[in-house]
Amino acid sequence: MNQHILITGGTGFIGQLLCHQLHCEGRSLTVLSRREEAEVQRLCGRVQVIHSLDEVATIPTIDAVINLAGEGIAEKRWTQQRKQTLWDSRITFTDELVSQLQRRDALPAAMISGSAVGYYGDQGEADVTEATEPRDEFTHRLCAAWEASATRLSGETRVCLSRTGLVIGRDGGFLQQMLPLFRLGLGGRLGNGRQYMPWIHRQDMVQGLIHLLDSPELSGPFNLTAPEPVTNAEFTRALAQVLNRPACLPVPPVALRLALGEMARLLLTGQKARPARLLESGFVFQYPAVEQALAEAVG
Ligand SMILES: NC(=O)c1ccc[n+]([C@@H]2O[C@H](COP(=O)([O-])OP(=O)(O)OC[C@H]3O[C@@H](n4cnc5c(N)ncnc54)[C@H](OP(=O)(O)O)[C@@H]3O)[C@@H](O)[C@H]2O)c1
Repeated sequence: MNQHILITGGTGFIGQLLCHQLHCEGRSLTVLSRREEAEVQRLCGRVQVIHSLDEVATIPTIDAVINLAGEGIAEKRWTQQRKQTLWDSRITFTDELVSQLQRRDALPAAMISGSAVGYYGDQGEADVTEATEPRDEFTHRLCAAWEASATRLSGETRVCLSRTGLVIGRDGGFLQQMLPLFRLGLGGRLGNGRQYMPWIHRQDMVQGLIHLLDSPELSGPFNLTAPEPVTNAEFTRALAQVLNRPACLPVPPVALRLALGEMARLLLTGQKARPARLLESGFVFQYPAVEQALAEAVG
C-alpha cells in the first residue's frame, strides 16, 4: 500500500511497534520527534524524521496522521505545573498540529488521535462503553479537551479517537514499574483491589490503531481495551501466577495517596471498559484474556 503516514509519539512504547508494523506493511512514515534523527531511526526503523510542527508543511504528501504524543501521565506527581505540561503536550500540541494540517493544500483522509480510558473518570463497577456518561475529574477534562482538539479536523478528514487502556507488553509501559516488586514476591493488590484495570496487549493496541486507520466507515471514539476487563485484585493474581511468586502484600490507599497525591486516583479508581465499538466493527483480539497477555509480556 503506497500510503504516507505522519506519526507523533512514534518513538514511544506504542509508537515504536506501530512504526515497525506499518513499515512491514509497505507504508512510508514521517515521525515527529524531539530526539536526534539517528535515535528515532534506531527506535522506529526506516522513517523520515521532523523535529517541529512547522515542518509538517514540508512533507510532500500526508495520507493519514496517527497522533500519540504526550508527556507520561503517571511519571510525576500532578502539581499544577505538571498538569499544565500534560495539557500542553496533548491539547496545545494537537491544536497546533491541526492548524498546520489545515494550512496544507490537501487534508489527510484520516486522523487517529490519542485519548485514554481516563476520559470516563472513576466509574466504579459499572460497565463502560463509548456511550457511557463521563465523570468530571482531571483525567476526564484532559482527555475530553484532547479529543476536542483532534475533532476540529473532522468534516473532510475522518477522525477516530483511541480511548486507550493500560498497555501490556514487553520492556515498557506500566508493567515495567510493577515487575521488580512482583518478581521479588513483594507485590499485592492496591487498596481493596475492586477497582477495574482496563488493559490491552500492545500488539492488539497496534492492530487496533491500524484497524481504525484502514476502516473508512469508522469515526469517533473507540475503547482500545481488551474484551475481558479485570479488577486490580484479579490482575494481581494473574501476574503473580505467571511469575510463579506470591503477591499477598496489599498496598493501603493512604500510602498511595501520601506518595502520589491526586495521581493515586490512577491506581485506586478505574473503569470496567469494554471495546464495544471495536468489536462491533469486526476487530478480533489476539490477546483477549489477561493471563495470556501477561504470559507473553513477562515470558
Ligand atoms: N501506554 C499506556 O498504557 C497508555 C494508556 C493510555 C493512554 N496512552 C497514551 O497513548 C500515547 C502513547 O503512549 P506510549 O505509552 O507509547 O507513550 P510513551 O512511551 O510515554 O511515549 C510518549 C511519546 O510522546 C512524545 N512526547 C512526549 N512528550 C512530548 C512533548 N512535550 N511534545 C511532543 N512530543 C512528546 C514522545 O516523543 P519524543 O520523545 O520522540 O519527542 C514519545 O514518543 C500517550 O499519549 C499516552 O498518554 C498510553
